[in-house]
Amino acid sequence: MSSATAVAGTNIALVKYWGKRDEALNLPATGSLSLTLDRLGTRTRVAFDGGAADRVTLDGAPAGEKFAARAAAFLDRVRARAGLTARATVETSNSVPTAAGLASSASGFAALALAATRAAGLELAPAELSELARLGSGSAARSIFGGFVEMARGARADGRDAVARPLDEGAGWDVRLVVAITAAGEKTIGSTAAMRQTAATSPYYEAWVRGVDGDLAAARAAIAARDLNALGAVAERSALRMHASAMAADPPILYWNPATLAAIATVRELRERGTAAFITIDAGPHVKVLCAAADADDVAAALNGTAGVLRTLVAAPGPGARVVEAA
Ligand code: PMV
Repeated sequence: MSSATAVAGTNIALVKYWGKRDEALNLPATGSLSLTLDRLGTRTRVAFDGGAADRVTLDGAPAGEKFAARAAAFLDRVRARAGLTARATVETSNSVPTAAGLASSASGFAALALAATRAAGLELAPAELSELARLGSGSAARSIFGGFVEMARGARADGRDAVARPLDEGAGWDVRLVVAITAAGEKTIGSTAAMRQTAATSPYYEAWVRGVDGDLAAARAAIAARDLNALGAVAERSALRMHASAMAADPPILYWNPATLAAIATVRELRERGTAAFITIDAGPHVKVLCAAADADDVAAALNGTAGVLRTLVAAPGPGARVVEAA
């Protein structure tokens, strides 16, 4: 029997990914750009111990059917690649609520890709791991790397070039993301279905796709210049355009709740008072706020005082996925 444990931080996109050019391979319709976080992530142990079926636990309890099936399908890819048939035990725990729009699938599939390949005796190069993680969840390709990361759209039909890479020019820039949690429980519609519905029915989808390359260029330049105001402006418009395209789908997709809007208003007030703080929102109602390290406590306090905000978490840039135990 061989086993490995890997940890990965989640990542929050500053230039969003919203739409696939190939659903089977999770090939994105556009590139994206994100920040991998330190405190929020997943720890996963995989052991190919040869039971009758794959056994998956999530936060100490047997995983739900959908979650377990997704993990087993992912393990099948790893087994095919390693020439293995043995079933596995997978123990995974998240430091963020699962499937609530806090990007647990990003850290989850990054940690699973690394732990499963190592346990299967494979040593993949980082770009290959990124490609593999992408097959589990598009955003997971980015969590293989630490800090600021850019995910390429790629042009190939087989997806070999749809991988992430670290943006070295951002290394050491000590920003913070303050997460305002505005609801308990799972999100209303998963990202794959929501992307499909947006692409198929939203009159704004094409315009959304057309704008992403410009946002990527602006974000790269802002990171190279350590210009928080410029990066924040890109992040806000990317998130709001992503949500606008989803809201315009038929039927409409609306992830926000009243506290989401209240948190947006709080961040605008902070900015009017001179604090550089900028929102982004994923496929859920929570609001994530990009700011300087020195302002994070003030930003968190303002969000904690916002109606409907349940709690806040402050995260710093974190490292890429790594193996912490192998036997
Ligand atoms: O990786 P997925 O399929 O969970 O999609 C992620 C989509 C967003 O979080 C909304 C945006 C992003 O780029 O992470």
